[in-house]
Parts: sequence; structure tokens; C-alpha cells
Amino acid sequence: MKEVRPWNAALYDSSLGFVSRYGQDLLQILKPAAGEKILDLGCGTGDLADEMTKLGADVTGLDASEEMISRAREKYPELRFIIGRAESFRAEEPYDAVFSNAALHWVKDAKGATESIWEALRPGGRFVAEFGGKGNVRLFASAIEEVLASRYDVDAAARNPWYYPSIGEYASLLEQTGFDVVFAELFDRPTPLGDEQGIRDWLSMFARPYFSGMSEEQTAEASEWITGKLTQVLARSSEGWLADYRRLRIVALKRG
Ligand code: BEZ
Repeated sequence: MKEVRPWNAALYDSSLGFVSRYGQDLLQILKPAAGEKILDLGCGTGDLADEMTKLGADVTGLDASEEMISRAREKYPELRFIIGRAESFRAEEPYDAVFSNAALHWVKDAKGATESIWEALRPGGRFVAEFGGKGNVRLFASAIEEVLASRYDVDAAARNPWYYPSIGEYASLLEQTGFDVVFAELFDRPTPLGDEQGIRDWLSMFARPYFSGMSEEQTAEASEWITGKLTQVLARSSEGWLADYRRLRIVALKRG
């Protein structure tokens, strides 16, 4: 099994809680019905799995991170959470729906993931997902890669940990796997991070693979340079700096 980077689950909940809040819109699209078996793929600390359970669904949360799963189990001890990777898990029983919010941009083996999702669903079952799409956090990636290349001689572009497909790329992959894609949308969703500390928290939570092999001091110093660069290019609202998020939202049905 490939190494899974440790996640700071407490920081995820305290400073980056918007991840689950934005997932509400996707729940409206999923419309979980009472009694449906739903897999929450990349469930993080379990907030959306809990919401679906409250609507009467029978939910299993799956995440590759032990830290996230142990925090989810602490927060929601009555729910079922399991550790597993999107690209390789196999479900024991078929699900009515697979739901995934803000997780699949971490899965570079997208083919593996769509195959696992297909295997997990009953015929006619739905896959409802939202994650970073083509162009997502372009300003963040550029600032990180420029600082690491110019100041630390790191080929940071080669370390880019994210997969941000276009509609065409992802819909084709789903069709090849055996899905009918019934809805797809790529849209900008500027996401408020608050003040400079919000940018630092984002980097510390999500950009760690870029800093691999660097000491804590170097990482902290590089984060300051990157934050400085980002404050020159990011837009700002009354809620602070806006991360240049662009979402890919997709609904597909397993042919059957
Ligand atoms: C996102 O939700 O778009 C995202 C989160 C973390 C890292 C990169 C992108």
C-alpha cells in the first residue's frame, strides 16, 4: 500500500470547516432517501455522513487517512467508518449511491477510482461527486511552485499532488467504465480563507506533499514566501482572501 500522508484532522475541522459546509449543496443533488445504502467516499471527519444518516440513510464513510477516520469515529461513534483508498477499495455489498465531496482531486489513479466506484454500486446506482476541476487553485499551485523552484531549487511541479480533470476527460472516463453521465458542471467557487493565517493553514493542511524532504523551519519559511506572493494575486472579499477554487460536479448512473 502506498504511504498516505498524515492529516491534521483537528485543523481540518477548526480552520477548514468550509469543506463540509460547501458539501451541503451536493447533498441537495444526492437527495439521500431513508433506507438507502450510501457510501461517503473520502468522508474526512464524517460531518456529511452524519447529515445523511440523520435523513435516514444507511451510510458508510470511507477515507484513506487513519487520522480522519479516528476523528470521525470520535465525533460520531454510532456511525460506520472504514479506512480504504478510492482507487482500490472493494465493497462487500452493493450501494444505492456513492457520494464524494472534495476528495477525488487527491486520487491520481482516476481510472482505479471509477472502477472501484462502479464495482461498489448496484446497477442503476448513482455516483454523485464534486471535487477540484480543471484550473482549480491555479494561483496556489503557481505561487508554491515558483517559490520552491526559485528559493529552494525544488522541481515542485513534479510534486503537484492533485488531479483536476476537465468535464470531457472525466465524463469520458466514467463512460468507458460503464456509467451514463447525466449531469456535469465546471464552475468557479471563490472560497474565503479569512486572513493570512487562513492561507497558512490551507498550505499546512493541503500542500504538504510539496514540502516533502524539507525541514519544519524551511517549510515555515517557504510558507511565508508563498503567502506573501498569494496576497499579491488573490482576490479578497469581506470574509478575507479568496482561494481560486473551481469545482467539477458530476452525476452518473451505473449502466445495468
Ligand atoms: C479543493 O477542495 O479544491 C482542494 C482542497 C485541497 C487541496 C487542493 C484542492
